[in-house]
Amino acid sequence: MTMRSPTCTGLLTLSVLVLAPAAITRAADEGGPSFVDLNFSHAASQYTRMLAALKGDPGLPRSLDDRGKVETVGPRDWTSGFFPGSLWLIYEHTRDDTWKRAAIDYTTRLEEIKTYGGTHDLGFMLGCSYGQGWRLTRDPAYRDVLITGARTLAGRFNEKVGAIRSWDFGSWKFPVIVDNMMNLELLTWASRESGDQHLLHVALAHADTTEKNHFRPDGSSFHLVDYDPATGAVLKKQTVQGAADPSAWARGQAWGLYGYTAMFRETREPEYLERALKIADFLVKHPRMPADGVPYWDFDAPGLPNVPRDSSAAAIMASALFELAGFADADRAALYRMTAARQMRSLASPAYRAAVGANGGFILMHATGHHPEGREIDLPLVYGDYYFLEALTRFEAAMKR
Ligand code: GLY
Repeated sequence: MTMRSPTCTGLLTLSVLVLAPAAITRAADEGGPSFVDLNFSHAASQYTRMLAALKGDPGLPRSLDDRGKVETVGPRDWTSGFFPGSLWLIYEHTRDDTWKRAAIDYTTRLEEIKTYGGTHDLGFMLGCSYGQGWRLTRDPAYRDVLITGARTLAGRFNEKVGAIRSWDFGSWKFPVIVDNMMNLELLTWASRESGDQHLLHVALAHADTTEKNHFRPDGSSFHLVDYDPATGAVLKKQTVQGAADPSAWARGQAWGLYGYTAMFRETREPEYLERALKIADFLVKHPRMPADGVPYWDFDAPGLPNVPRDSSAAAIMASALFELAGFADADRAALYRMTAARQMRSLASPAYRAAVGANGGFILMHATGHHPEGREIDLPLVYGDYYFLEALTRFEAAMKR
């Protein structure tokens, strides 16, 4: 049994240290605060303001509204776990109990969703909040919430399809989106913790079915595959949040990369590593990846290069690449670390990281939520912040070895 928490934690690799770019390590080498320290300090300044502004609001921050005010959501929103998760990561870095108290407050707002079967995103929602809380406190009540949540999530599994149903809305028969790979770590963890083998079966079947049907020969993926729930047959492959059915929606590629990297860590199944490497190679060598490593919202968006970026995709990708580098051969590992470090430098620059006191208290600017529907374009998104902090944590731990 490992000591890792579900979702969003990952292995920390020795190898990042070897190729840590000088620009990132320099300050620490010279006795000053490191790149990581400086960014956590910025995050703490921003989130102190965010917490003050949210006082009395029972919701959880997601983005900014049309008037530039922080938009909060209820526990059932798919993004509800990221802010508590970020508070836990700041607590882990600072060891300041103020952050622990805030993390507990925001985490426990989500308890009711442990039995909410109306979403496939319980892995994100509970893994990032209760999962990080469990990792850092070992509070048995958190463990119980996570195991109950995993069983609830498994209730959306269809044996015929071999997958967990993603959405309950729309005209699809049994839609599965690539994002759903991110919810499997809750299941593998809960299976180890509880001994419930069915949870592991669900996670493996879902990863295998997605592997078989979502990916194209170049390593990119479709956003959504619709199945016949009675036979398991594939009915349709398409996009919802991307530019076109055959396009490479940036965040979808990042979810796949992160999801298969995590599944390899959890299971050591070689085909999950192969899949993660193939996605990584597609991304890091993509001719339309901008020089700063922050992708356009879709690699095939009409109007390139004058289209919005997605800083959240860059943060997710960087965090995944730091982990995947630990599983890859030396050449790939070097390339992945260099790419992730470049992305982190860019995200931490004034081009993407908000000035203290700006951006409603969010850390990163310039993310894209749902471009085809014209929603959340060029705004902060709470998950971008979360994966940026997680990538910092992975980077720092590797640098310390
Ligand atoms: N999982 C939803 C999104 O990435 O927008």
